[in-house]
Amino acid sequence: MKSKSVKRIGVLTGGGDCPGLNAVIRGVTKPAHDYGMEVFGIEDGFEGLVTGKAKQLYNRDVSGILAVGGTILGSSNKGDPFHWPIQTEKGIKIVNRAELALKNYKGWNLDALIAIGGDGTMHIANKLAGMGMNVVGVPKTIDNDLQATDQTFGHDSAVFVAAEAIDRLHTTASSHHRIMVVEVMGRYAGWIALHAGLAGGADIILIPEFPFDWEMVYQKVTKRNMMGKRFSIVCVAEGAKPKSGKMIVKAVDSKRTDPIQLGGIGEFVSKKIMEATSLETRTTVLGHLQRGGSPTPYDRILSTKFGTFAIELAAKRKFGRMVALKGNEIVSVKIEDAISHQKLVTPETQAVISAKAVGISFGSDEF
Ligand code: F6P
Repeated sequence: MKSKSVKRIGVLTGGGDCPGLNAVIRGVTKPAHDYGMEVFGIEDGFEGLVTGKAKQLYNRDVSGILAVGGTILGSSNKGDPFHWPIQTEKGIKIVNRAELALKNYKGWNLDALIAIGGDGTMHIANKLAGMGMNVVGVPKTIDNDLQATDQTFGHDSAVFVAAEAIDRLHTTASSHHRIMVVEVMGRYAGWIALHAGLAGGADIILIPEFPFDWEMVYQKVTKRNMMGKRFSIVCVAEGAKPKSGKMIVKAVDSKRTDPIQLGGIGEFVSKKIMEATSLETRTTVLGHLQRGGSPTPYDRILSTKFGTFAIELAAKRKFGRMVALKGNEIVSVKIEDAISHQKLVTPETQAVISAKAVGISFGSDEF
């Protein structure tokens, strides 16, 4: 089972963390040793590749981490080598540090780099591949917005947390006859809101892909009230926006790979419903609870399959490719295909069709 040419691989976790990262690191490291490879864990994502922070990983380092959330390697969404922020007298200046990343890759004698991350990480990995690095991608993100894979790992765990929160909100909403608005993550995609709203039996789901009509939101909760259902659950994606409005940006940070930080739509929806209907509302923002903690069994299995498949690709020198889930199969796709466009919810998405069939409103009659 010895690989002739790939002797030493690097592995890094880039962008926002999520449950399942450690399971992938374990899935990469253990079989890599069986192949006779050495594994270098690069710290804090691409930041460590630029600044030269890495440590050798042995089986003992990855033992017992399957069910542990976060990443033993650390992560960062500010370490893009092609967009490297430095502090100058005049403020933050963005410079290119990709040559430094390549120098470290060569200096560590790496034959391949396994980059575990989302959209931003795959874009960087693709550019580094263009500079001559042997890269294999593993698709991570709670947002599930990566094209070319049916699912990213981490999404199921985030949906589990959000659906459980909706279950809990149901009982208190019912006791107090309130409208409960729950804001979930997902960036520019509505997958978490859609899946958690469907799993939790939300009455209204608002997502970025389907700009909503305020009147339809008011009508839905008022109608439920008149029918004796004196509470409603509204599941709002952080990127959702009304037809006449924009996404709510909470902060802008030029040092990040994506400078936009979303947040605040939940509170806005709550306030508008209360003003328009006089029904009592409350808001819950789930935030990073969706990214923390132990991965679900589904994510542990998917992460392990992704990690072990990635090392096989590396051993076979199939570089420039990303591991992907297609149906029940694990396959590989070109990284550039995975990043060609974002995977978004459409009116034809089966979960949308099923949600509508059971009476869930998307706050619009256009979708
Ligand atoms: O991409 C994952 C994600 O959790 C998004 O859903 C969210 O918009 C963003 O990251 C939050 O990033 P940060 O942890 O940097 O605030």
